[in-house]
Amino acid sequence: MKQLHKQSSMPISHASQLYSPKSLKHPRSLPRSITYLLKEQRLLFILVGVFIGFTFFLLQPSLSPADPRPHLFSATRASLTTDPDPAAAAATYANSNPVARNNPRYSNGVGRVPVGIGSKRRRIVVTGGAGFVGSHLVDKLIARGDDVIVVDNFFTGRKENVVHLFGNPRFELIRHDVVEPILLEVDQIYHLACPASPVHYKYNPIKTIKTNVMGTLNMLGLAKRIGARFLLTSTSEVYGDPLEHPQKETYWGHVNPIGVRSCYDEGKRTAETLAMDYHRGAGVEVRIARIFNTYGPRMCLDDGRVVSNFVSQAIRKQPMTVYGDGKQTRSFQYVSDLVDGLVSLMEGEHVGPFNLGNPGEFTMLDLAEIVKETIDPSATIEFKPNTADDPHKRKPDISKAKEFLNWEPKVSLREGLPRMVDDFRNRILNEDEGKGN
Ligand SMILES: NC(=O)c1ccc[n+]([C@@H]2O[C@H](COP(=O)([O-])OP(=O)(O)OC[C@H]3O[C@@H](n4cnc5c(N)ncnc54)[C@H](O)[C@@H]3O)[C@@H](O)[C@H]2O)c1
Repeated sequence: MKQLHKQSSMPISHASQLYSPKSLKHPRSLPRSITYLLKEQRLLFILVGVFIGFTFFLLQPSLSPADPRPHLFSATRASLTTDPDPAAAAATYANSNPVARNNPRYSNGVGRVPVGIGSKRRRIVVTGGAGFVGSHLVDKLIARGDDVIVVDNFFTGRKENVVHLFGNPRFELIRHDVVEPILLEVDQIYHLACPASPVHYKYNPIKTIKTNVMGTLNMLGLAKRIGARFLLTSTSEVYGDPLEHPQKETYWGHVNPIGVRSCYDEGKRTAETLAMDYHRGAGVEVRIARIFNTYGPRMCLDDGRVVSNFVSQAIRKQPMTVYGDGKQTRSFQYVSDLVDGLVSLMEGEHVGPFNLGNPGEFTMLDLAEIVKETIDPSATIEFKPNTADDPHKRKPDISKAKEFLNWEPKVSLREGLPRMVDDFRNRILNEDEGKGN
């Protein structure tokens, strides 16, 4: 203590002599750091460096670290900033970027690429996106400019349906069963995961009802947690063997709750109930589509659905199997019409349910005739006893979708069938050559 006291009482001039001896040794010379800078033209080099850096950032504002996605737009930005005509450059950017295309800032050719702001691309999850309908929906969303995550367990889906998107940075594929929960950050959820053909959903009925109930619960829970909009692909099967014809959305159906198809029919009815309860009880934005028979490329070859059955059989020169007397009716919707309807529903303000189907009504025998005309006029028909709970009539009333979604199908059966036949021919040919799947 004594020692400390002695030191602190030392005169200041004396203390500074002790701790800054150099400054006192050469009181008039420049500080050492400045002397260092002035030597060997170091200052000149620093000034030139500062000038180059300043010029670079002035010309390239988009390289600011505030931009969260520099790698995605770098090429288009470069062309924008080096284009002598700013309006033309903005238009180039708008044409090459679908998000920008919808943004008046670019379409007017005004302004430059914003740094870290601008309309955000949507992130969308499609469960069952490797299946028939799902893969066509994913194609449309990716073409529109969205980021798409496909969640699929590949029960009936195939990687081949989405393989053309594998190199696309906006596409992700996750092998996952929706019966288990999953956490993703997305803006919209299209929930399609569920086997759709009787052969597949009757294969393991317990799994089918689990997928419909637990899978839908999990995806609704996710929608609630992250505030995403949720679309359920329900089915015309909720009408069962209908007593009302054509079927309106107000019809409650005529369904056997304990039959062999109930895992699907009642599963989808429960899924609709869950969706409405999450909507009313938890404020989740839901959309419900009731899909009628849909056909097109990428359907499973032998899934027991009537269009794919007839087409595969006619191409393989086998008789087309008609169950019952063939007078039961169905309506057939081409897949691109369905996908347009699903997107209109998701983007619109109406919950639904909405019937999405083609109201053109055909008997099984009519369909067999059209397939014969399209593929092979010498094709024959073989009759077999009808399956249990097969509905006699099915035809959607689509006036609600026309009015509220401004949607109606555009592709007739005679136009759509040849597009599907081309795809089936290729796949059956590959199958015969041992490359089928
Ligand atoms: N195609 C039609 O005519 C039709 C008619 C009515 C309703 N729908 C509905 O549309 C949706 C798609 O039908 P689709 O014709 O594309 O059928 P699909 O069988 O081709 O596709 C269903 C997809 O869901 C996947 N999937 C099944 N169970 C899953 C699970 N537990 N977890 C994760 N993925 C799972 C399958 O692997 C497949 O990729 C289904 O919900 C179906 O009920 C279709």
